[in-house]
Amino acid sequence: MMMQIDLTGHTAFVTGASQGIGESIARMLHSAGANVAINYFNDAEGSNLAKADAIVDSLGERAMSVASDVRNLDQMNAAVDQTVEKFGGVKILVNNAGILRDRTLKKMSETEWQDVIDTNLTGVFNACKSVIDRISDNGRIISIASLAAATGFFGQANYVSAKAGVIGLTKVLSKEVARKGITVNAVAPGVINTEMGESIPEENKKWMISQVPMGRFGEPDEIAKVVLFLASDLASYVTGQTVHVNGGWWG
Ligand code: NAI
Repeated sequence: MMMQIDLTGHTAFVTGASQGIGESIARMLHSAGANVAINYFNDAEGSNLAKADAIVDSLGERAMSVASDVRNLDQMNAAVDQTVEKFGGVKILVNNAGILRDRTLKKMSETEWQDVIDTNLTGVFNACKSVIDRISDNGRIISIASLAAATGFFGQANYVSAKAGVIGLTKVLSKEVARKGITVNAVAPGVINTEMGESIPEENKKWMISQVPMGRFGEPDEIAKVVLFLASDLASYVTGQTVHVNGGWWG
């Protein structure tokens, strides 16, 4: 028998999916047959809207773009409403949206601390809240954490605290929804070639790559493939876990 992942008839909502890892996840789930809601942050220039719409155009059917700021629960509820209205439900939530505001704790402003906590941790709470009463039995919640949560990289007190919080939230929520067959897991990437990965200063990047046993950074679709597995029936008994995808790097 040939094994195949088929998500036909299932709807996935992917936060921050207008580029990078989120885009790759949305494309991967779509290619497995899922309906996908490409969530994007409506920035003043409208560039995320344009990117999200271009992805929807390239995917054709079974895709929609939907604006919302993960920091705002009302906006998240409205975005999930729109998704349910179009596709009839939500089966898979991928919490991908995230930002960096790196600085040593000594120099980090309260705003830099709070922005990262609001987006990377409260954003996950908000998205989970917005789907929790509507996600189907045997649903899937997958959050993108980070290797940084395990290692504690220099200059990332805000980011590491938020991502470690996401791993904690994952463990708790997995227990709270387990009886419905809903699984809740995290994926913790090492450094991945995206705009965020590119933003790392060149000398730090050189050091980081020297630490990766596989000798290279990861590609967005190498994260998306693991998300696809967790979103599928193949992972029906995997819950409360963090899957590390980092080329063998342990910091
Ligand atoms: P990226 O910067 O390319 O994409 C982040 C996405 O989040 C963007 O589409 C952005 O518009 C969206 N976003 C930001 N604030 C938002 C908000 N308030 N509401 C809705 N969307 C918002 O970054 P990348 O690399 O694709 O990162 C995706 C996830 O993977 C993030 O959670 C990041 O922390 C995580 N990650 C990335 C790594 C890397 O090396 N690139 C390593 C480990 C984790």
